[in-house]
Amino acid sequence: MDQADKLRNIIKANQVAPAQGARVITVTSGKGGVGKSNTAINLAVQFRKLGKRVIIFDADFGLANIEVMFGAIPKHSLADLLYQGMNMKEIITWGPMEIGFVSGGSGIAGMRNLGTDNLNYLVRNLSELDKLADVIIIDTAAGIHDAVLEFLVASREIIVVATQEPTSITDSYSLLKALNLHPRFQKEESIIKVITNKVETTQIGKQLYSKLDTVVSRYLKLNMEFLGVVPQDNAIVKAVMQQSPVCISFPQSASAKAYEDITATLMNIPHTDRIYRRGMGGFFASLIAGRF
Ligand SMILES: Nc1ncnc2c1ncn2[C@@H]1O[C@H](COP(=O)(O)OP(=O)(O)OP(=O)(O)O)[C@@H](O)[C@H]1O
Ligand SMILES: [Mg+2]
Repeated sequence: MDQADKLRNIIKANQVAPAQGARVITVTSGKGGVGKSNTAINLAVQFRKLGKRVIIFDADFGLANIEVMFGAIPKHSLADLLYQGMNMKEIITWGPMEIGFVSGGSGIAGMRNLGTDNLNYLVRNLSELDKLADVIIIDTAAGIHDAVLEFLVASREIIVVATQEPTSITDSYSLLKALNLHPRFQKEESIIKVITNKVETTQIGKQLYSKLDTVVSRYLKLNMEFLGVVPQDNAIVKAVMQQSPVCISFPQSASAKAYEDITATLMNIPHTDRIYRRGMGGFFASLIAGRF
């Protein structure tokens, strides 16, 4: 049995998405810088607003993705789990709105290229988060790396973020092709959901999805669905600078509304109820603010 076989067996024995456990959503992309980490934190905020317990797992190891966007300094990281014998619960940092996150160990040598044993240990311990959250959102590194593919293989629900940059759709396709070729990938058990981000118009966003869908349905035959469009929005750029998710800093912005809608879609909330909910939410907020 070679190392890859060993790893596959370990992952199989420790599926990240057990039947009755937390909902595990893995956010990925072919190309870097398309908005994965923003997607992860803002979906987390929106799930939290719907009363869900949420933990973000930063699987872009060695970089400070989530903590920088949250403006939170983690006391611990996955490095403590791997090298100091701490458990998963002990290394969770509780950020804004009591959203938990597990830091990928920024700036720690060795985290960028985890060996089989460490990855094995990490995946085995992921199930501990299951008891502490309703939704676990995994933010991955960009591109086709073994560690990324292992997280995708272990998740039933995968969100691919794509943009209108020319290489984004082709890179997304390459990633899905590699996933499809993975010996442990269970095609029928998995669903690929697509968000088109930083797009100029909804129309362009939908066309981008169609392009990807055409090639994916023809050549890979994966279950794929369109989650929605997040517009190019300066509020996100400002929110990133302020180190606070746009859904907290600018909840009325176009992108925050898009994340709200996407989360409602993920929760199967009918469109009619969304308008009602937003309306009533606004009503109660005004009531609390003493405007009535
Ligand atoms: N909808 C948007 N509108 C405007 N700017 C955006 C939008 N989404 C993301 N950005 C910008 O793109 C940058 C990259 O976003 P983010 O870090 O979420 O991408 P990523 O895919 O996680 O990157 P990496 O591959 O490096 O992990 C952000 O700093 C932000 O400025
Ligand atoms: Mg990122």
